Amino acid sequence: MLHGRVLESRVPPDLPPIFVDANQLSQVLMNLLLNAAQATAQGGHIEVSASRVSDSVEIQVADTGCGIPPEILPHVFEPFFTTKRGKGTGLGLSISQTYIRSHDGEVRIDSTPDKGTTVTITLPSRPADPPLAVAVDEPASHQEVIIQ
Ligand SMILES: Nc1ncnc2c1ncn2[C@@H]1O[C@H](COP(=O)(O)OP(=O)(O)OP(=O)(O)O)[C@@H](O)[C@H]1O
Ligand SMILES: [Mg+2]
Repeated sequence: MLHGRVLESRVPPDLPPIFVDANQLSQVLMNLLLNAAQATAQGGHIEVSASRVSDSVEIQVADTGCGIPPEILPHVFEPFFTTKRGKGTGLGLSISQTYIRSHDGEVRIDSTPDKGTTVTITLPSRPADPPLAVAVDEPASHQEVIIQ
């Protein structure tokens, strides 16, 4: 899917931990990468980066692809909204937004037609030493992921 595109990753080693379902975050990032690859021609760039922003971690997937027209942008998080006739369900961003919001995070998209698109996920970082009661109460499906 990424054949012919330049994929770059910029993730500093000293990011604070975030408390997320690793499978869900992986699905979200796969969907964003697929969207970026489908929007980007051969030779284009896709960059995945992460950084600390105050008490949160920001993860960005940026591409130099076709961009999203301003009249389309307000609809991209709607379930079943797709411009990929017959090739997309239009559920990727909708499900991603639901996952991220369930972790008290947010998803934002900035896009310029013919220049590219940047999707930003913001997730709250977790204190280094949570109280024991909080750790015990968390559902078993949740795992701590330190992105590096
Ligand atoms: N990086 C991007 N560049 C350009 N357009 C994008 C990008 N990401 C999303 N879009 C637009 O937003 C629409 C909705 O994206 P979403 O991921 O929800 O569904 P999809 O990619 O069409 O289908 P699916 O994810 O089910 O394969 C896309 O059809 C496309 O028009
Ligand atoms: Mg998609």
